[in-house]
Amino acid sequence: MRRTIIAGNWKLNKTTDEAVRFALELKQRVGSVTHCDVIVAPAFVALGEVYRAVKGTSIRVAGQNLFWEASGAYTGEISAPMLRSVGCDHVIVGHSERRQYFGESDETVNKRIKAALQHGLTPIFCVGETLEERESNRTFDVLTRQVVAGLEGIPAGRVAGIVVAYEPVWAIGTGRTATREQAQEAHAFLRALLAEQRGDHVAASCRILYGGSVKPGNVDGLMAQPDIDGALVGGASLDAASFARIVNYGPHASLAG
Ligand code: 13P
Repeated sequence: MRRTIIAGNWKLNKTTDEAVRFALELKQRVGSVTHCDVIVAPAFVALGEVYRAVKGTSIRVAGQNLFWEASGAYTGEISAPMLRSVGCDHVIVGHSERRQYFGESDETVNKRIKAALQHGLTPIFCVGETLEERESNRTFDVLTRQVVAGLEGIPAGRVAGIVVAYEPVWAIGTGRTATREQAQEAHAFLRALLAEQRGDHVAASCRILYGGSVKPGNVDGLMAQPDIDGALVGGASLDAASFARIVNYGPHASLAG
């Protein structure tokens, strides 16, 4: 009942020309899939052209971040209406790289999620613990803090439409994926937390993606878990064959091209 999402976060990669060429290749490989939503998140400057390249296919386009004000004297920022104007319908919020390198806090994540929702963008709200937090048994405390603060003041009806991405920091870009059991445990915890915070209906409809070294070789096991509703893919989303195989996970694998 929860529709799968496979999303590629291209991070700080690909010039606009490279992004468009790559998007056209993805269009060939996964542009007509129907079993899941496919989303790509190029750099801001490539969004408009990538959107035009994939328009009319199953591929959707997301921003990697947004600012909470719609306009004004905020040099260097990008707003929700700007993302909408270049074809985005999703936006990644609170990625651990933003939290780690750019001073993102739970409070600013909350403002960004509210701004996204206000302007009709679906936030892909990232949470996840560091290695130190996991090793000191604080994973569930950290996830609770991030979810409670990130969703503060957002009514249940809106939370139901938010996409959550569980991305353990120690698994991002390290090749060290969470095992399917570790990922399922965290996802089940997040779903129970959403139920406690906003009700069973919200928990049942909210999609929770796993991110952190998702590859063609591990996606099937992850996607077979009951609370894993999709993947947020970094490195492997930069290779068209790998990303296509991830989109065509598990029972859809025979269609990979
Ligand atoms: P990797 O797949 O490269 O580990 O990155 C995951 C990620 O951060 C997606 O947002």
